[in-house]
Amino acid sequence: MNTPQLAGATALVAGGTGNVGYFAVDALLRAGAEVLVPSRDPAKIERLRSRLAPDLESRLLGLRGDIGTAAGAREIAAQVRDAGGLDAVVSTVTSWHQGPPVLAAGFDAFRSVIEAALYPHFTAAEALVPLLRPGGAYTTVNGPAGFVDQVGAQVGPIAAATAAQNRLVLAIADETGGDPRVNELVMWAYMGPNGTRPGSPLRGEAVGDVLAWLSSPAAKDVHGATVHLRQPDQAQRILDGQARQGDLG
Ligand SMILES: NC(=O)c1ccc[n+]([C@@H]2O[C@H](COP(=O)([O-])OP(=O)(O)OC[C@H]3O[C@@H](n4cnc5c(N)ncnc54)[C@H](OP(=O)(O)O)[C@@H]3O)[C@@H](O)[C@H]2O)c1
Repeated sequence: MNTPQLAGATALVAGGTGNVGYFAVDALLRAGAEVLVPSRDPAKIERLRSRLAPDLESRLLGLRGDIGTAAGAREIAAQVRDAGGLDAVVSTVTSWHQGPPVLAAGFDAFRSVIEAALYPHFTAAEALVPLLRPGGAYTTVNGPAGFVDQVGAQVGPIAAATAAQNRLVLAIADETGGDPRVNELVMWAYMGPNGTRPGSPLRGEAVGDVLAWLSSPAAKDVHGATVHLRQPDQAQRILDGQARQGDLG
């Protein structure tokens, strides 16, 4: 596979301490970028650092803050501005949720999942999109729950949040008009706290590489796309510059 090229670039991974975020951070570092990761918990930055190869972790910069609130995201943006701006953002914020059937769980439970799983996508984009330099890229990660035909009652709130996330990202793409480029990767794979989960059709490294590719000048013509990444050969075609119709949404 061709490694995406981001030498000299500065990227930020919102949610970079998480299961998917780790692979985004690792791939962006392998592509040569300096990578900023905000977190509410410094211990999570240290765990992320400990998982990275020693020759990569020196280009990781942790930032203290909460990207999931408007005030917290503004504080993170101020720190990023002081560090000189961004060439790429990858957002893997928010977490999976499963609970009692959606109506039985009640409105407060629904509201708390929507607030926790959807709002951070707004606050992160509102604060970080303006910091992207010309030619920059903003890429979000989403899951299949908002796209499948059969929606289980226990995953109703997260399915609603992820479907709304996708519509929000497409609206932001329309607003930027392509500079920065704005895309969403829907990951049909399973990542856990210790890496790729058994049975996952895709390895986290391949997901990370496609996220780094979407962040790089090699993807300069990709904007406003919802990329459903399902198979290793699809990832390979994208990285080799041989994407077929449907590979990129
Ligand atoms: N894991 C999978 O197999 C999988 C599959 C398909 C799609 N996805 C999607 O990928 C994204 C990330 O999943 P994940 O498994 O990596 O989740 P995760 O391990 O829980 O990590 C998410 C990260 O986002 C930050 N975060 C979470 N909720 C937040 C909030 N309300 N406000 C601010 N920051 C928040 C946290 O950072 P700090 O605590 O450090 O601040 C956390 O490390 C989700 O959108 C998920 O739907 C995941």
